[in-house]
Amino acid sequence: MSRSKIVAGNWKMNKTLNEGIEFIQVLKESMPELNHTKVVVGMPFIHLASASTHLNGKFSIAAQNCHHEIQGAFTGEISAARIQSTGAEYVILGHSERRQYFKETDELILKKLRSALDQGLTPIFCCGEPLDIREDDSHVAYVNEQMENSIFQLSNEEIRKIIIAYEPIWAIGTGKTASSAQAQEMHKEIRISLADNFTLAIANDIHILYGGSCSPANAEELFSQEDVDGGLIGGASLKTSDFLELIRIAESIH
Ligand code: PGA
Repeated sequence: MSRSKIVAGNWKMNKTLNEGIEFIQVLKESMPELNHTKVVVGMPFIHLASASTHLNGKFSIAAQNCHHEIQGAFTGEISAARIQSTGAEYVILGHSERRQYFKETDELILKKLRSALDQGLTPIFCCGEPLDIREDDSHVAYVNEQMENSIFQLSNEEIRKIIIAYEPIWAIGTGKTASSAQAQEMHKEIRISLADNFTLAIANDIHILYGGSCSPANAEELFSQEDVDGGLIGGASLKTSDFLELIRIAESIH
């Protein structure tokens, strides 16, 4: 079994419209030939429509959230259907920053997942434990519960369409990466739980990305782990040189 690699950027709340489009143009021009790697750039909503006019089959774009209803009187919100209409194909859901600052629960994330899937978007579902849970050695149970309440409620057909990103909260934006052994341990546990809840074939097909201070300095070791299928990249996705290097590293490992 060999899964391709995925390198997904997450700009978070960074880049003006012009800065984002400039990045996309450089990425488009500089992207190496890829046979084993899929590239996705997660960006603020404001960039999606313009960025999609620069797509050339070498990379895709993602939103970073969606509302769970299709449309209606929800001032300031953006639904999966609106995102889909821009040309974006992916949406990051359940990021720890949304769970923490916007009080998103597993139940709400499940509604968003279903809405995204209904609109034909591929969700990048994030999970991961805070530091005290890691120190308590209960990280596996914690992540299992996050999945139990959300993605494990999906059907076999739905779960096949999602990408999972394991992002230990203590590693996000801190410069403190999980070791490759810590990442591999959790990714393997996630795959075992997927096999228990769905089928072994589904578990083996699903991409599980690592996120949390992933950079050109540590990506090779992380991406080489058997169950690590690439990365969800925050800080290092803001500079084209770093992001392109991460893409090259992923492509070199298969
Ligand atoms: P980071 O962010 O790479 O800056 O740690 C990752 C993420 O939050 O997706």
